[in-house]
Amino acid sequence: MSSTTPAGTATFGETATGQHPWWADAVIYQIYPRSFADGNGDGMGDLPGIRSRLPYLANLGVNAVWLSPFYVSPQADAGYDVADYRAVDPRFGTLADFDAMLAEAHSLDLKVIVDLVPNHTSDEHEWFQAALPSQPHSAERQRYMFREGSGPDGSLPPNNWQSIFGGNAWTRVADGQWYLHLFDTKQPDLNWENPEVREEMVSVLRFWLDRGVDGFRIDVAHGLVKAEGLPDWSERASMVEGREHSPGVEDTGAEDADITGLETEPTPPYFDQPGVHAIYREWNSVLSEYEGNRMLVAEAWVEPAERLFHYVRKDEMQQAFNFGFLLAGWNAARLQASIEESLLEAGKVGAPSTWVLSNHDTVRHTSRFGLSDPTTFPKGLSADDEQPDEALGLARGRAAALVMLALPGSAYLYQGDELGLPEHTTLPHSVREDPAFFRTGGVERGRDGCRVPLPWTAASPGFGFGNYPEGNSGPNDDGARPWLPQPESFAAYAADRQVGVAGSTFELYRRALELRRAHRLGSGAVEFSELNDPARGVLSFRNGDVLVVANMGGAPVKLPAGYGMLAASTSDAIRGAAGVLAPDTSAWLRMVPNGSTGR
Ligand code: GLC
Repeated sequence: MSSTTPAGTATFGETATGQHPWWADAVIYQIYPRSFADGNGDGMGDLPGIRSRLPYLANLGVNAVWLSPFYVSPQADAGYDVADYRAVDPRFGTLADFDAMLAEAHSLDLKVIVDLVPNHTSDEHEWFQAALPSQPHSAERQRYMFREGSGPDGSLPPNNWQSIFGGNAWTRVADGQWYLHLFDTKQPDLNWENPEVREEMVSVLRFWLDRGVDGFRIDVAHGLVKAEGLPDWSERASMVEGREHSPGVEDTGAEDADITGLETEPTPPYFDQPGVHAIYREWNSVLSEYEGNRMLVAEAWVEPAERLFHYVRKDEMQQAFNFGFLLAGWNAARLQASIEESLLEAGKVGAPSTWVLSNHDTVRHTSRFGLSDPTTFPKGLSADDEQPDEALGLARGRAAALVMLALPGSAYLYQGDELGLPEHTTLPHSVREDPAFFRTGGVERGRDGCRVPLPWTAASPGFGFGNYPEGNSGPNDDGARPWLPQPESFAAYAADRQVGVAGSTFELYRRALELRRAHRLGSGAVEFSELNDPARGVLSFRNGDVLVVANMGGAPVKLPAGYGMLAASTSDAIRGAAGVLAPDTSAWLRMVPNGSTGR
């Protein structure tokens, strides 16, 4: 049995008054604006739609929302290609809609985090538009990464870097120079060696801080600074190397106890360069001028965890996404290793850890966990691929939520997690929009399947995502329909089938969040329990007075006497008078004071 009581747990992020800042143990709900709620019935989610559903989130019991980009953008990468950092795209509403949404969120005691995309702009940003007709080496060009080509006539790219989305990372412009884009051609990388770029992004931070946002999620936080001389890099370009999908291969995980999901790879010259940290130190001091414990959370696919936690040293960001936990999959040994490593590294820098199972870039965990190898990380799924076992994936997804929400630190939910929503695994290629699908020739199915509009009401057209005419629930050609088609199976997951319905996934999350607050799990500590036995698929730990048991193995697990049940991932998770926990379930137990079995 091992025990993990991180040195810094008691003091992480403490303010001068000794209070924990709000973000230290917050549960933060990711809203993907295109797909959350459509207020004007044009098929695309928007800010008024978000505002109208804030009471739903307050009822769920989250502490904050994080909004993916809603700024002016040609939407070449669903808004992660920003053309104007200070304006709302008309598809999503207006600045006044943003202010109204923010005010309403605050009145419901919900914090609001917005997405900042500093690595690249859209090619339609005024800076890039000014760079194109300007001379090589001009001030306009030096805001981006323009270089001469290689080869005798410069007709070859400056180096061999590949785009994360597939294909070359360089595009040639009319006068023969090339510009770098780690992502799509329409996402030129900014030159972070240029002080003008640094000043501009600080000014953008201030613009939103002045409006009252509580924090920023920093997109590709590890990518801004590139290695001197832009040396060649022959390894595969990827944000993340998950486990290959190897159906049928039995993996108990026992042999890779130190694996947290991110294999140790050499660092590419465009990621995790030492120079990025000075940027975050500057931003930290900008935020500290504002009241209210504003925060920064890094999207940094960096390994090992020790390097990731460099981003949350005291004078840098407040949080970093814990993708090692996300990549661990449904596997006790891998999850335990991730939890131990995260808490250890978090303790060293005095920061809280974060936990996350899904986001807008990953196949939803309910679907990953229903694959024959529930530790794989496919880059999208299509009808030609192995189809997940939906019921099994849902059971495991619910069980994993109870593991995540019992951990100390901050937890991130992706919209629809609380409904147990699966990935859309059979989207026709004709409706896909993710540039990764097109740039890899379909080898990567892409991320559209996790971005399908939410089902709010089972019996309405478009499942109530917006107000659509009768008979318009699926793809048709009058334009008024959700921007991606929803599978018929979404009816069963609709919010109106779950809110207030005993046993629903929504009520499980609501109850878990309530208990998490009541038992102060977010500011607690983890101690692996005597039941913990990863070789048999059992993950079990204590946090304060709560005993968490998750059964990721094939056999029932005998529960100890003297405990009462606080929550269980399904109504029949605990069976028999003696109390055994069924496979693919989890439970929160608490010792019954008089020692009698409270089950
Ligand atoms: C981040 C975003 C992803 C986007 C990419 C480029 O990884 O989460 O959606 O495509 O950055 O901005």
